[in-house]
Amino acid sequence: MSTKMWGGRFGEGTGALMEAYSESVSYDKRMCRQDVAGSKAHARMLARRGILTNEEAERIVAGLDQVLDEIEVGVFPWRVEFEDVHMNVEQRLTELIGPLGGKLHTGRSRNDQVALDFRLYVAESLDVWGRLLRELITVFVARAGEHQDTLLPGCTHLQPAQPVSLAHHLLAYAWMLKRDCERVEDALRRVRISPLGAAALAGTTYPLDPAMVARAVGFSHAFANSMDAVSDRDFVLESLFCASVVMAHLSRFCEEIILWANPRFGYVALPDAYATGSSIMPQKKNPDAAELMRGRVGRVYGSLMGMLTVVKGLPLTYNRDLQEDKEPFFDADDTVRASLRVMAGMLGELAFRPDRMREALAQGFLNATELADYLAAKGVPFREAHHITGRAVAYAESQGKALEQLTLDELLVFSPAMGDDVFEALRYETAVARRNGPGGTGPESVTTQMAELSRWLQKR
Ligand code: ARG
Repeated sequence: MSTKMWGGRFGEGTGALMEAYSESVSYDKRMCRQDVAGSKAHARMLARRGILTNEEAERIVAGLDQVLDEIEVGVFPWRVEFEDVHMNVEQRLTELIGPLGGKLHTGRSRNDQVALDFRLYVAESLDVWGRLLRELITVFVARAGEHQDTLLPGCTHLQPAQPVSLAHHLLAYAWMLKRDCERVEDALRRVRISPLGAAALAGTTYPLDPAMVARAVGFSHAFANSMDAVSDRDFVLESLFCASVVMAHLSRFCEEIILWANPRFGYVALPDAYATGSSIMPQKKNPDAAELMRGRVGRVYGSLMGMLTVVKGLPLTYNRDLQEDKEPFFDADDTVRASLRVMAGMLGELAFRPDRMREALAQGFLNATELADYLAAKGVPFREAHHITGRAVAYAESQGKALEQLTLDELLVFSPAMGDDVFEALRYETAVARRNGPGGTGPESVTTQMAELSRWLQKR
């Protein structure tokens, strides 16, 4: 006879291959705290509705606490033959408090139980992501504050374009991460819905109070449709999408750190704590932390894609395919948490090299737009001013000079509109300082951005 909890109708035990294939306890034991919390809320609700006596519910709750103690101390006997975290916990409960343990599952199915546990787990993770995102944004804003006067070449197509302040460049990431944080907080509203009471799929004949369970576990409300409640995993998809965008944003800055650490750029010196050497080339200092983070984006996108594929075409309601929701989420969760922490540490210690950025500014004709604007301000139509400046750039390039290194006489060859004041217009500091429109790189705009971000960070 089968020894399984569900073994009543079975004549023989599960094959060893099948047992190994089907078990999830090796990884879903990560949800043990959530499983115990959900069961405690369920037991108390059963008592409130007169399905258990108060005394029975309290003995079950005490037993569940003891189970959790055993898990935390490391003496809990995890057994693969009990398949998943839910049946391991219930089995142990019954060993500890006797047949009363068998009453806990009244009016409940593992289908609504696992959905609740996983929602609790995902909600905690999203909370942590939100907190870590805020911590990282704080570092971006702090580093920006140190570099309001540091200028570097802003690029389009990775070609030198116009000068920007390093503060403005760093704040661009702060704004991306703020949106990520808001996305996570918004997703949380849809995660924090309790499916308990949906039972297997159709609801139950017991007079349960799902809203009471929802309140007890700290969720905002209970499910509206039992079939949806046990089979919906869009809360996982949404969370994995949030994680994917976070990783995409981090990978963009990683790419810049990697480029900037190359001596041809030399804009940053990597902190020793976040770099590694080579076993053969003694001179090497490699940006491995940034490279690993850029690479790990693949795992998180993979989790999202995998999960989208698991739910595609699944008929209602619960299908065992859904057990495949946990590992991708756990992996993405680990990756996002670690990446946010590593990025905050690395950025905090990154040594920026304003001198190298300044040198680069003088090499890419980053003030060409300024010259065109200067001529336009003198009444030259912009298209013509653009053309004149292009010729001046070609000439300067042939002379191995920057625009500001040409003499006024040399400049006058291209247009009679050139005057002495052109050299002020060509200064990189001037180019940045004049861009004070909303969201521009000018110092006033940057100060406004920092104030706005700081205010947002203080809320909550
Ligand atoms: N371990 C299962 C999962 O993660 C729990 C639910 C199992 N339900 C069932 N009817 N077999 O999905």
